[in-house]
Parts: sequence; structure tokens; C-alpha cells
Amino acid sequence: MKNLKLFGYLMVIASALLCVQCTSDPVPGPAGADGIDGINGIDGVDGVDGSAASCIACHANEKRDPIIEAWSGAKHAIGGSWARGTSSRCAECHNNEGFIDFIETGAVNENGYTVSNPLNCNGCHDSHRSFDFETDGNDYAVRTLEAVPLRFLDNIDYTIDYGNASNTCANCHQPRRDAPLANLEGKFLQTSTHWGPHHGPQTALLEGLLGAYSTFTLVEDIPATQEHPHRQGASCIDCHMRETTDGSSGHTWTPAGNNCATCHPGVPFEELKVMDDLIADWETLGGILETVVGQAVIEDSTAVGGYIPLFEADGITPVPVVGIVIKEGDEWEPQVGLFDLKDAEAAWNFLYFYEDKSDGVHNPKYAKSIIKNSLAAMQE
Ligand code: HEC
Ligand code: HEC
Ligand code: HEC
Ligand code: HEC
Ligand code: HEC
Ligand code: HEC
Repeated sequence: MKNLKLFGYLMVIASALLCVQCTSDPVPGPAGADGIDGINGIDGVDGVDGSAASCIACHANEKRDPIIEAWSGAKHAIGGSWARGTSSRCAECHNNEGFIDFIETGAVNENGYTVSNPLNCNGCHDSHRSFDFETDGNDYAVRTLEAVPLRFLDNIDYTIDYGNASNTCANCHQPRRDAPLANLEGKFLQTSTHWGPHHGPQTALLEGLLGAYSTFTLVEDIPATQEHPHRQGASCIDCHMRETTDGSSGHTWTPAGNNCATCHPGVPFEELKVMDDLIADWETLGGILETVVGQAVIEDSTAVGGYIPLFEADGITPVPVVGIVIKEGDEWEPQVGLFDLKDAEAAWNFLYFYEDKSDGVHNPKYAKSIIKNSLAAMQE
């Protein structure tokens, strides 16, 4: 289809060139008899809507300049984490070339990269799947529309599929760790200063996955996966990109109020996005988690899990760790140690909400439920 259309454009140009020739035949002969009418040709395939004009409208500098400008001030272009993408462990999400390799071949360069670049136009865009926009819709030449497995989770086998370009986002904005399970003497041995779902669990919250509550007596139901209207009626690009009116076509990735107004007419954006009660509950939960007492651990390469619990000189009294999470300046940090699973589950939900960074908006019902249940469990 693509070639046919391009061939069509070429034919127009070629026939225009032909018309210039053969204008100087000297003596014209007498006119012959009229020929018989030919048979009707086969109906042609519909052309691209607006043909070249629509291509130009989207490819013109006037359209692109504000997009380039928006991108160049966004975290996708200037965030500090793009420096991390030289490592093969981080390149698929923190390096433009690593991401392209990952999407095109299913893997990054196993030796890592000498240079790590921020995500640019060419990372998210490639070429049009077809030029038949009338039948196939305009794909905006987005690099991938494929469904995306949550590839770092061992305990959940799940594939995200929004059926649109939001699938591109899901490749990176996905959790990198499973929720805690008992892994030592019925407790949770926590050995990472970066514990939590990592910074991009937005897909999981929108879906309604990854909360931890196996030890809780639930005071509120846990909403079903995909239940929320934000998942059923929207996806990343609907709230973060479409309906922007500043010419950026959403390339700041900051959600704009227009994107909410279709479903929440008349509520100002700044008001709509803040759920005071939820944030108050989350903060109360944080305060409690800072006082939780666990047992200190020390590295021991011979032990299962690489760590052993520490005891005082009497050999019986555990050496305490105070706080399963603690606040350092403005940041919440997890602490290494051996903790009751219930404390670990509440702390996981706390960090999950924190790392998602939407203050619960991605899935208000799920966020309220896991935070309320965590708070109730800690206050039991
Ligand atoms: C709604 C916007 C839009 C429309 C309409 C559109 N394109 Fe594109 N096109 C893009 C985007 C975005 C890219 C990604 C590459 C980039 O950054 O320019 C792209 C990429 C391309 C590329 C690949 C460029 C490359 O470097 O490989 C070609 C060729 C192309 N478009 C041709 C066309 C033609 C021909 C039409 C009309 C039939 C058309 N486009 C209509 C948005 C559009
Ligand atoms: C190649 C991986 C990748 C893809 C694809 C990707 N992102 Fe990101 N995104 C990131 C990283 C990494 C950051 C953080 C950059 C930094 O601050 O260092 C980020 C930052 C953001 C931010 C700003 C967060 C903040 O802290 O201000 C938003 C919003 C966002 N992305 C939304 C999206 C949406 C929507 C899509 C899909 C259209 C998308 N991203 C596609 C990796 C990606
Ligand atoms: C599955 C994709 C993925 C992988 C793999 C990944 N990250 Fe990220 N990371 C993200 C996303 C998405 C963000 C941005 C989320 C946001 O801003 O909300 C991010 C953010 C960050 C940030 C910025 C945090 C901040 O708030 O400023 C750092 C630092 C970071 N990652 C380090 C790493 C390192 C180091 C590795 C490799 C060991 C790694 N990441 C692997 C997806 C990933
Ligand atoms: C994080 C991924 C991402 C990056 C980076 C990105 N785009 Fe896009 N772009 C998208 C998505 C997603 C859409 C919209 C798809 C949709 O609405 O279905 C889009 C749409 C567009 C459109 C069509 C807009 C419209 O309103 O019709 C143009 C043109 C475009 N991008 C150009 C660019 C250029 C130029 C750059 C680099 C400065 C760039 N994009 C960087 C993801 C990205
Ligand atoms: C229902 C609308 C909606 C949907 C759907 C949605 N978001 Fe958001 N997102 C928001 C709002 C609102 C915020 C908070 C922005 C603010 O505080 O101004 C946010 C925050 C974020 C942030 C943190 C931005 C920051 O400045 O710290 C990231 C990253 C993000 N979203 C990525 C995504 C990704 C990836 C998807 C798809 C998996 C997605 N969002 C789906 C509305 C949405
Ligand atoms: C596809 C339609 C749709 C879009 C788009 C949408 N929402 Fe919603 N949103 C809903 C519906 C429906 C509910 C009510 C869900 C329920 O309680 O059952 C809701 C609930 C909420 C809630 C929870 C209110 C509460 O206190 O319980 C917040 C907050 C919210 N939306 C914010 C936003 C923001 C901010 C945006 C834009 C970035 C947005 N929504 C975009 C449909 C949408």
C-alpha cells in the first residue's frame, strides 16, 4: 500500500514532465475517424486524505518546532537518569539507543554502551506502518504499538495492552521488583537500599496490580484489575499528551486539564487531581512505618539470601533497626533489615504510592484501598 501511494505521487510528477516534450511536429496530417469508446477503467483506490497536504501539515516546521521545544525542556530530554544508560542493566529504559535495540531485537547490547543519550524523537517514533491512514488510522509513526509483558516480575505473569501508543510508554514505565514474600524464618529479609518497585510503576497502578496485603485483615475491598475508568476509558497518552492546546501535542508529558475535562467537566484541574484524605492517610502511614522495629542484618556470602540477622552479645536479643522506611530530607528511603511480613507489605504499598508520583490519580480506588488497608493493619 505504502509503495503504491508513493508510486502514484511519482506518476503525477513523471506525466507532468512528459507534457513538456513533442510540441514541434512540422506538418500535421488529416484527422482520422473517431475511435470506439474504451471500456471503463477499474475504480482507483482512494487516495490519502488530503494527500500531500496532510503529510505536510504534520511534517512542516511550524508543527514540529513547538514539539521540539516542548521535548527539549521535558524530563525525557533533560532528566539526570539518562546518564545511567551505559550499563546493560539500565540501558533499555535509560538510553535512547538501548531502548531502540531492545524494541527492535528484544535485547540490549550485553556489554553496555559507551554513550547514553536521552530519549529523543527517534526513540519513540520510527516510520509509518502504512500510508493508508483512512483504513489503518494514523499511527503517528510511533515505534511500537505491541502489547508489553511486565518483564521484571517473577510472581505475576501479566501483559499490558492499551491497544494504542501508550504501549510504548509501558515498556519503560513498569515496576522492576515483586511485592514482598516471606523469605527468611517467616519474615521478610530486605537487603536493598533501593527497595521498592523502582521509579516507574505507573502501568501497574493504572492496571490495579502489585499491592501487598496477604497478612492484612482487609477493611476495604481490593478493586479488581482494570476496573477503574482511568484504565477502561483512558491510558497514558490520553491524560499526558492528547488535547493539549499549547502546540506541544503533549510533548512535555505533563498532564493538562483538558485531558480530564472530557470525563470531569467543570472541575478545575488543580482541584481535581488532589485527594487530600488519601494523602493524609499516606503521610500517617509513613509516620508509623518510621517507628517500626526490625532486626539488623549483616552480609554473609555463605547464608541463603547473602545476609544473616544480628544479635547482641547475649546471642538472643536482636540488634534493632528502627524504621522500615525513613525520611531523609524530602526523600523516603527503605532500610535494610529483617522485618515482619506485615510491616514489609505496608511499607511496600507506601513506597509504591510514592514512586508512582501521581498521588493516586492513576487509579484512585486502588490507591485508596491499599493505603487504607495498610494503615488499618499497622494500627491494629
Ligand atoms: C499526524 C502527523 C503525521 C502525518 C499526517 C504524517 N506523518 Fe509522517 N511522520 C510523523 C511522525 C511523528 C514521524 C516520525 C519521524 C519524525 O520525527 O519526523 C513520521 C515519519 C515519517 C517518515 C519517515 C521518516 C524517516 O526519517 O524515516 C516518512 C517517510 C513520512 N513520515 C512520510 C509521510 C507521508 C508521505 C505522509 C502523508 C501521506 C505523512 N508522513 C503523514 C507524523 C505524521
Ligand atoms: C525509554 C524509556 C521510556 C519511554 C518509552 C517513556 N518514558 Fe517516560 N520517562 C522515562 C524516564 C527514564 C524518565 C525520567 C527521566 C529523568 O528524570 O531522569 C521519564 C519521565 C517521564 C515523565 C516525567 C516524570 C517526572 O518525574 O517529571 C512522564 C510524565 C513520563 N515519563 C511519561 C511518559 C509517557 C506518557 C510515555 C509514553 C508516551 C513515556 N513516558 C515513555 C522513560 C521512558
Ligand atoms: C523497566 C525500565 C527501567 C529500568 C530497567 C531501569 N529504570 Fe530507572 N527509571 C525508569 C523510569 C520509567 C523512571 C522515571 C520514572 C518517573 O520519573 O516517574 C526511572 C527513574 C530512574 C531514576 C531517577 C529517579 C528520580 O526520581 O530522579 C534513577 C536514578 C534510575 N531510574 C536509575 C536506574 C538504574 C541505575 C537502573 C539500572 C540498574 C535503572 N534505573 C533501570 C525505568 C527503568
Ligand atoms: C516518549 C515518546 C515520544 C517522544 C520522545 C516523542 N514523541 Fe512525538 N508522539 C508520541 C506519541 C505517543 C504521539 C501521539 C500518538 C497518538 O496520539 O496516538 C506523538 C505524536 C507526535 C506528532 C503528531 C502530533 C499531532 O498532534 O498530530 C508529531 C508531529 C510528533 N509526535 C513529533 C515528534 C518530534 C519531532 C519529537 C522529538 C522532538 C517527538 N515527537 C518525540 C511519542 C513521542
Ligand atoms: C487518568 C489520567 C492519567 C492516566 C491514564 C495516566 N496518568 Fe500519569 N499522571 C496523571 C496525573 C494527574 C499525574 C500527576 C501530575 C501532577 O501532579 O501534576 C500523573 C503523574 C505521572 C507521572 C509523574 C509525573 C511527575 O511530574 O512526577 C508519571 C511518570 C506518569 N504519570 C506516567 C504515566 C504513564 C506511563 C501512564 C500510563 C501507564 C499514565 N501516567 C497514565 C494522570 C494520568
Ligand atoms: C475516561 C474518562 C476519564 C478521564 C479521561 C479522567 N477521569 Fe478521573 N475519573 C473518571 C471516573 C468515571 C471516576 C470515578 C470512578 C469511581 O469512583 O468509580 C474518576 C475518578 C477520579 C478521581 C477520584 C475522585 C475521588 O475522590 O474518588 C480523581 C482524583 C480523578 N478521577 C482525577 C482525574 C484527572 C486529574 C484526570 C486527568 C488528568 C482524569 N481524572 C481523567 C473518569 C475519567
